[in-house]
Amino acid sequence: MNRREFVGGIAAGAAVIAAQPTARALGANNRIRIGLIGAGDRGTQDLKEAIKQPDVECVAVADAYSRRRDAVKQVVPNAETYDDPRKLLDRKDVDAVIIASPLHLHAEHMLAVLASGKDVYCEKTMTWDIPEAVACLHAANASKQVVQIGLQHESDGDLADTKKWIQDGLVGKVAMVESWMSRNTPHGHGQWVRPVPDDCNPEHVKWDLFLDGRPKIPFDGQKFINWRLYWEFSGGNVTENMVHQIAWIQTALNLKEPLAATMSGGVFSEPDGRQVPDTIAVTLEYPETVVVWQSTFSNSHFGLGERILGSDGSVEHISGATDMITGKYTSSINYYPEKLNRPSGVALKGEAPGVNHMANWMDCIRSRSKNTNAPVEVGYNSAIAAHMANLAYRLKKRITLEEAMAAKPMY
Ligand SMILES: NC(=O)c1ccc[n+]([C@@H]2O[C@H](COP(=O)([O-])OP(=O)(O)OC[C@H]3O[C@@H](n4cnc5c(N)ncnc54)[C@H](O)[C@@H]3O)[C@@H](O)[C@H]2O)c1
Repeated sequence: MNRREFVGGIAAGAAVIAAQPTARALGANNRIRIGLIGAGDRGTQDLKEAIKQPDVECVAVADAYSRRRDAVKQVVPNAETYDDPRKLLDRKDVDAVIIASPLHLHAEHMLAVLASGKDVYCEKTMTWDIPEAVACLHAANASKQVVQIGLQHESDGDLADTKKWIQDGLVGKVAMVESWMSRNTPHGHGQWVRPVPDDCNPEHVKWDLFLDGRPKIPFDGQKFINWRLYWEFSGGNVTENMVHQIAWIQTALNLKEPLAATMSGGVFSEPDGRQVPDTIAVTLEYPETVVVWQSTFSNSHFGLGERILGSDGSVEHISGATDMITGKYTSSINYYPEKLNRPSGVALKGEAPGVNHMANWMDCIRSRSKNTNAPVEVGYNSAIAAHMANLAYRLKKRITLEEAMAAKPMY
């Protein structure tokens, strides 16, 4: 069975998952025993955040690269390490699993975690393509497992402020949302490019686990380390960063997936052999609302932000020098009335405190609530938006939701 048949089979057989073991009793003192799949940059950050929470212990880590298994021992010396995630999932004493593998592996790992009856925290974007997103949605909904997608801005206070202003009627009708994300790097250094370590070779990397059913090619350390640059493993900046902002906008405005998308751009600033564009303009069409998102890797002045433009007021969410990999950024959230329609309205600053996204997952695991801050539906709707944008770019046309749902995966 190849990977796509595997995903399709799981989608059709969601009922099978419903019959899987559900939440085991947690360990002594309500202790949550977690496992991690993919102990790279983000996985290690997620792991550190998880074990900071009370009564959480990491007992197992799976990574296809021995260097990463060695490095994670510095963080969790008592955890057992494995190359193949299936060995971790076979363990009965693992309650919940964080997935931080490269994008093209998310769906397979998420479906396997759900099938094993463990709760799941899956890094964004939830999946590499649309059929996988459908499969994960069905499987998660058919299970009793607690799902949190690694869209951590869903737990931010500024989203709570924005939702409240909109619900309180301060914003009015929103026909247009502008959003952008911009970065820069020193001349000669491409955005996202990581050095390939000397030991990144078939002796230390389980290459077949990484390829995971994709057409067999000889070992390629560049693709293994810099998978973000290649369509086969990545969705480029749309799945790396737009997805955070689109999830935020969709949640603020209570939108589902878009009805249509267009995307233009190209590889203009990082001509280093990458396939995914570094310069992007996306338009997403929702019922009576258009969302635009633009992104560049050769100017960081305006950082990252969203402007929700309503008939009665605007919400402006600005992040300064933003680095979504390290998570370091400054943020402000403001409301400005449209004096035409709210003459007595006053400007407001957001003040809602945020919630720790990992802690929110742990709380839900303990209470068995599926209502996490970024449940599977948020992962699904944001993934569909991202994949529609990429399909429009690659097919060089405006793509409707119906066309996107029927589109073949594009490596
Ligand atoms: N939420 C956020 O703000 C945020 C930030 C950065 C990255 N991410 C996401 O986290 C994910 C990982 O990104 P990263 O930068 O850490 O990548 P990375 O390349 O540093 O880490 C991926 C890890 O997965 C391992 N791996 C590869 N194939 C595997 C397999 N079959 N089984 C087990 N392990 C395997 C690799 O050896 C590597 O250690 C991506 O989906 C990315 O989009 C999210």
